[in-house]
Amino acid sequence: MRKINRATIVHFSPTGTVRKVALAFKDGCAPLTSKVSVHDVLTPESRTELIDCTQDTLLIFAFPVYYGRMPLPLRGLNFLKGHGTPAIIATVYGCRACEDAGREAAMELTERGFVPYCIGEVPARHSLNHEVAPARPDHRDARELRLLIGELIRGIEGETWLPYACDTATPLKPYGHQFLNPEPVDATLCKSCFVCAKFCPMGIIDKDTKRIQESHENECEACMACVERCPKHLRAIPAKVADPFKEHMRLFKEQLCSRPQGELPDELPILVRLTDKTGARLFKAGGSHEATL
Ligand SMILES: Cc1cc2nc3c(=O)[nH]c(=O)nc-3n(C[C@H](O)[C@H](O)[C@H](O)COP(=O)(O)O)c2cc1C
Ligand code: SF4
Ligand code: SF4
Repeated sequence: MRKINRATIVHFSPTGTVRKVALAFKDGCAPLTSKVSVHDVLTPESRTELIDCTQDTLLIFAFPVYYGRMPLPLRGLNFLKGHGTPAIIATVYGCRACEDAGREAAMELTERGFVPYCIGEVPARHSLNHEVAPARPDHRDARELRLLIGELIRGIEGETWLPYACDTATPLKPYGHQFLNPEPVDATLCKSCFVCAKFCPMGIIDKDTKRIQESHENECEACMACVERCPKHLRAIPAKVADPFKEHMRLFKEQLCSRPQGELPDELPILVRLTDKTGARLFKAGGSHEATL
């Protein structure tokens, strides 16, 4: 029987929803393990330090879904090392779809010495359109995540759950790329606090101009960390890109909001994909836990 004595929570959260999910997991872990640590891997500097996880640790790895995949700056997971360490993956998504994000993380974590047990799909506010599920994760989500973590730890320790049976054969869907390249709308109001440059996960904002460096214009992840965190609310997507993009996001929201009851952004349940002796299962957090796969 496996014993989990500590938990390491690693999150990448440009606009804060993933962090909320990570902190709900932290609260859920507190009574169960003697030691819980939280690591924010948003900035390039934070990803230079190796997070080495012993076999009796549970890794909880939480990140936003980008184009149905894991965000580009996380690729390779060089900042994580496991030693047969059990792992839970939390894919936080803007109510469209998670697609290959969890599977990609499961494959990469396995390469890095972890044993993934499940993939959670957590609906959240969309970072490119705050009108989609604006309040999620909310109190109910946080409560369900707190309860869920206890259940998952018991399932791993009691060997109710088997390591996640990951499909490694099907190619991952291509990574899309929106070149939104936010910039200061009025540089004269900038107070040179460098918050935008500090929290850019790609490290591509020029400290003098506060714009994306010319040689890195194709690297912006459109993650919105710089827009969200500028204390003067100065940063925005330039008009020539913003106008067609706004229309795209309006149609996107319309599509989401014309879904049937139960699939609307504010109603989507937290789902967990895992494997037990009967095979692959889909669990609904806070629900009846029916197998629907
Ligand atoms: C570039 C980009 C691509 C995204 N792609 C998807 C997607 O494929 N599916 C989805 O449901 N949400 C998608 N989202 C929404 C985010 O996954 C979601 O809002 C997440 O909660 C953001 O996390 P954060 O608040 O920690 O930054 C995308 C967001 C961005 C910025
Ligand atoms: S410049 Fe692009 S990658 Fe950097 S924080 Fe802003 S949106 Fe994210
Ligand atoms: S975060 Fe805003 S105010 Fe601070 S340096 Fe960047 S653009 Fe200027």
